[in-house]
Amino acid sequence: MKQPTEIKPAEGKLGVLLPGFGAVATTFVAGVEAARRGLAEPFGSLTQMNTIRLGKRTDGRSPLIKDFVPLSELDDLVFGAWDPIPDDGYESALVAGVLDKHEHVEPIKDFLSSIKPMPAVFDTEYVKKLEGPNVKKGDTKKDLAEQLRRDIRDFKKENGCDRLVMVWCGSTEVYIRPGEVHASIEAFEKAMEENHPDIAPSQLYAYAAIMEGVPYANGAPNLSADCAALEDLAKQKGVPIAGKDFKTGQTLMKTILAPGFKTRMLGMSGWFSTNILGNRDGEVLDDPESFKSKEVSKLGVLEQILQPKMYPKLYGDLYHKVRINYYPPRGDNKEGWDNIDIFGWMGYHMQIKVDFLCRDSILAAPIVLDLALFLDLASRCGFNGIQEWLSFYFKSPQCAPGLYPEHDIFIQHWKLKNTLRWIMNEEMITHLGVEYYD
Ligand SMILES: NC(=O)c1ccc[n+]([C@@H]2O[C@H](COP(=O)([O-])OP(=O)(O)OC[C@H]3O[C@@H](n4cnc5c(N)ncnc54)[C@H](O)[C@@H]3O)[C@@H](O)[C@H]2O)c1
Repeated sequence: MKQPTEIKPAEGKLGVLLPGFGAVATTFVAGVEAARRGLAEPFGSLTQMNTIRLGKRTDGRSPLIKDFVPLSELDDLVFGAWDPIPDDGYESALVAGVLDKHEHVEPIKDFLSSIKPMPAVFDTEYVKKLEGPNVKKGDTKKDLAEQLRRDIRDFKKENGCDRLVMVWCGSTEVYIRPGEVHASIEAFEKAMEENHPDIAPSQLYAYAAIMEGVPYANGAPNLSADCAALEDLAKQKGVPIAGKDFKTGQTLMKTILAPGFKTRMLGMSGWFSTNILGNRDGEVLDDPESFKSKEVSKLGVLEQILQPKMYPKLYGDLYHKVRINYYPPRGDNKEGWDNIDIFGWMGYHMQIKVDFLCRDSILAAPIVLDLALFLDLASRCGFNGIQEWLSFYFKSPQCAPGLYPEHDIFIQHWKLKNTLRWIMNEEMITHLGVEYYD
C-alpha cells in the first residue's frame, strides 16, 4: 500500500449494496435514514462520532474523523439489496423485530418500503435452514455471477451513483475449506463454469463486485473473498476488500477483556462462552455446518491475543469453548454468558462472569456504515487488496498470507487511526511522549 499523493473527492452519490436484507442490513439502513431525518443518533459509529488526535497532546487538535478525512455524507448514501426472501425493507425490519415498530420503523415506512431486494444468487446447499422464492436462475455459477454484475451496473445507472461499495450481510454459509479452486483466479473461473460445489454464493457476489471495481466487505464468517483467487483479483483490479465476520457481542467482549488480562500477565485456564439468540441468524447457525464457520471465526481470537506458544505457563493449557444456542423467544436480543478462569500471583485462581444482554444488530449496524464509508475512502486513495487497517471491525480479520491477524481491539483501533493520519500525511502517534519532559 502506497501513501496516497492525492485522494479523489467524495462527491456524488455512494451506493451501498447489501447481499442479505435481514436484521443487520435493515437496522443499518433504518439507522442511517433516522440520522438523516434527525430522529436518532448514529451511536457506535467511528466515522460519525469519533474524534482523532493530531499532533502533540498540547496542540489541542482533535477533529471528528469525518471532518479530517474526506468521507461521503450520510445524505449521499443510497441503498440496494439482494435477498431470496422478497420482503421490502419495511416488512423485513418488522420480521427482524430489532427496532421498535412505532418509534423507529413506522416513521420511515416510505423509505424502508422503497428498498426492494433484487433476486438473489442463493442455494439451500450453503444455507440449509432458509428458503425463499426471490432467486436467480442460471446454468452455471459463472452465469449467475454475470447476472450480479449486470445488477450492479444497472443499480449504479438507475440511481445516478458516482461510486458503489458492497457489504455482505447475508446468512452464514456452511464451512468450506480453501482448496484448489480458490487458489488462483483461473481455477476459480473454471470452477464457476463447472458449477464446482466449493464455490459458494457469497463468492459470486464478491467476484462480481471486484470485477465491477466495487470494494467488498464480508460481515459473515464464511470464506467469500478470503481466498487467494479473489485477493489476487482485487489487487489486479485495484479494489479494496476486507473481512470477515462483524465483531459484535461476545467476541467484542473477548477482544476487549483478553488484552487486559494479558497486559497484566494474568494466566488463564479456561474461557467458556455460551449464548442464546432467537433471530433468523440464530436459526441458520443452528445448522452444524453453518455453526462450524462461526466457531472457527470465534475460536481464533484468544489464541492470537494470548500467544500461548510465547507464554506457555500462562496460557498453554487454556480450555476455550464457544456455544451458540437457538432460542426463539429472545429474538435479536441475545444473552451471552462468559465464564473466565484466570490465575494470578503464585497461581491463585479467580473467576470472572460476564452476562451481556446485547442487541446483535444494534452492534453490527454502525460497523456496516463505517465499513462502507472507509472502503470507499480506501478506493479513492487508490488502495487495493486486503485492508488490514479495518481489522477493528472483524472477528476474523483478513490479512496477508504468512501474517497472523491482529485481534486486540486496542491495537486495531490504534492502527485504524494511524492509517487515517498516514493517509492525510499527519504525524503518526506513538504515545512515547518524551518530548513533554525535556
Ligand atoms: N448481528 C450481528 O451482530 C452479527 C455479527 C457478526 C456477523 N453477523 C453475520 O451477519 C449476517 C447477517 O446477520 P443477520 O442477523 O442480519 O441475519 P438475518 O438472517 O436476519 O439476515 C440474513 C439475510 O441474508 C439472506 N441471505 C441468505 N443467503 C443469501 C444470499 N445468497 N444472497 C442474498 N441474501 C441472502 C437471508 O434470506 C436473510 O434475509 C449473518 O451471516 C451473521 O452471522 C451478524
